[in-house]
Amino acid sequence: MHAKRDFLRIPDLSAEELLDLLEDAREMKAGINTDRPLTGKTLAMIFAKSSTRTRVSFEVGTRQLGGDALFLSSRDIQLGRGEPIRDMARVLSRMVHGIMIRTFAQADVEELARYATVPVINGLTDLRHPCQILADLLTMQEAFGTLEGKVVAWIGDGNNMANSWIEAAGLLGFELRLACPEGYEPDHGIFETNAARTRIVITPDPDEAAAGAHVVTTDVWASMGQESEQELRKVAFSGYVVDDDLMARAAPDAIVLHCLPAHRGEEITESVLEGPQSRVFDEAENRLHAQKALLAFLMS
Ligand code: CP
Ligand code: NVA
Repeated sequence: MHAKRDFLRIPDLSAEELLDLLEDAREMKAGINTDRPLTGKTLAMIFAKSSTRTRVSFEVGTRQLGGDALFLSSRDIQLGRGEPIRDMARVLSRMVHGIMIRTFAQADVEELARYATVPVINGLTDLRHPCQILADLLTMQEAFGTLEGKVVAWIGDGNNMANSWIEAAGLLGFELRLACPEGYEPDHGIFETNAARTRIVITPDPDEAAAGAHVVTTDVWASMGQESEQELRKVAFSGYVVDDDLMARAAPDAIVLHCLPAHRGEEITESVLEGPQSRVFDEAENRLHAQKALLAFLMS
């Protein structure tokens, strides 16, 4: 019997597994692979935060692979009334074949994975958003044919997306430059571990990060759960905008990514988001293909 695998953070996959998974995703997207390895299987999807892309891509992806997906809002299940995660993990494991969870604390996802006997997938925590990074890497490969030798610039908050980019850079070895305001840098431990593996630079200067970069990417100034900090953050992040001036510093063939939802006029301008370098809607679509490959890998 094989031990079950979870996907709580990018380095839960080896570099080879990650690249294979991206190849599977490309074959699924191209219609070369139409297997239905989830036939007769159910994915439980627990959401303690809002979602459009994650919910729809997991639900549609599971169905396309022959399986069934259950949407469970934490408002409606007993988890929201204080049932321990370890109890829910064991109950769900007796009824479903995989669990996806979007919540606040990474520790909660880890506890769920520890007690569940089926694969657990992190659909976003305050600390990480690994499924989004799968889609982002797929989008990069589509644009450039390879990830090798590419430089990624992250502009803005050192949030869950930034941390997962750092883990991807550390695993695959590409260069990552993060421009973050002081006090809003990424997780220190994640940075330290991965900066020992590849070139990862944190700077307060967006121009420095974007210079010659192949990918320029950003995210909202205030993530889910930080709504009360919105006004404070508007001040701290005022210079951290992906606009045409910043894009003029990047490589001429650079692409722009944003996990969405975006706040036009804050972290990114309308002109860049809707402009010729933007790949944000391919990126959103790629959530579906990348996660189908992930579901097939973990739940087949
Ligand atoms: N990018 C992303 O995770 O979108 P949702 O919040 O809509 O799922
Ligand atoms: N950093 C954002 C990503 C949303 C997909 C958040 O956590 O709200």
